[in-house]
Amino acid sequence: MERAGRLKHEPKPKSPACYRCHSPVTPRGECGCRDGICLIHADGRDVLPLLEADIMVTDPPYGIHHSSRSGNEVAVVGETATGRDAKRVLTAEHTSIRDEIVMIWGDLPAIVFGHWRAPRPEGTMMRLVWDKEIFGMGGVGQWRPSDEEIYILNWPNPKNNGGNHGSILRHKALRGKNRPNHPTPKPIGLMRELISNCPPGIILDPFAGSGTTGRACKDLGRRCIMIEIKEIYCRIAANRLRQEVFFA
Ligand SMILES: C[S@@+](CC[C@H](N)C(=O)[O-])C[C@H]1O[C@@H](n2cnc3c(N)ncnc32)[C@H](O)[C@@H]1O
Repeated sequence: MERAGRLKHEPKPKSPACYRCHSPVTPRGECGCRDGICLIHADGRDVLPLLEADIMVTDPPYGIHHSSRSGNEVAVVGETATGRDAKRVLTAEHTSIRDEIVMIWGDLPAIVFGHWRAPRPEGTMMRLVWDKEIFGMGGVGQWRPSDEEIYILNWPNPKNNGGNHGSILRHKALRGKNRPNHPTPKPIGLMRELISNCPPGIILDPFAGSGTTGRACKDLGRRCIMIEIKEIYCRIAANRLRQEVFFA
C-alpha cells in the first residue's frame, strides 16, 4: 500500500523525541517506554510522514468556535450552536487539518471521528454512530444532539470478516469529575471498543488530546503512537498513562 510522502528535494526532518521518556522515536514508534505507548509533542502534519504505523484512530479538531450567549468564546467541537449559528455548515476550512492528515496517511485503515455539519472524508466506506446517552448543547425544537459520527476508511477485507457488530456504539459521554481536563475527551470504553475491532498492528493517533486512544491501547496490550500539538494535553495524556493496566 502506498503512503503519501515527503517530496525528494525537501530536507529530511530529524526524528522526533518521545514526550514521556525523552528518547528518540523510530518510525515504528519504538522509544524508551516499556508499555509500547509513545507520545510525541508536535504538529501531526510534520511528524506523520516520518512514522510507519498500521491503523489510524483519531478524533480531529473541526476548528469550530462560536460566541455563547454570555459572550464567552467556547469550543463547540462535536456540539451544535444555537440560534443564528445553527444554520452554519462546516466547510473545507474547518476540515482542512483532518483532510491533510487523511491525505498524508494514504490508503491504510483508519477510523476518524466526524461532525455532522462537515463533509465526510474522501474514501469513507462506512459510518458508525456514537450514541452518547446524554444530550449535548444546542439542537432544534425539542431535539438535542446526542450522537457523533465515526468514519471507517480503507478497511481490509470489508466483505469477508463475518461482521456481527452493529453500527451504533453506546457509551456515556463524560461529565463531571471523571472527565480529563480537555474540552472533548472520548470515553475510554468507546475507544477500547473501536480499537479491539481494528486489524493487528500499531495504532496511530495524530490528534491525541488527553490521550484516550493511547490509554485504551495500553489497557488492550496494543502498541500506539500519539501526537499532540499542545503541551498541556501531552502532560495530561502522560499522566493518564502512568497508571497500570486496568484490565487484561
Ligand atoms: C478533538 S481533540 C481529541 C480529543 C481526544 N480524542 C481525547 O479523548 O482527549 C483534538 C486534539 O487535536 C489537537 N490538535 C489540533 N491540531 C493539531 C495538530 N496540527 N497536530 C497535533 N495535534 C493537534 C488539539 O490540541 C486537540 O487536543
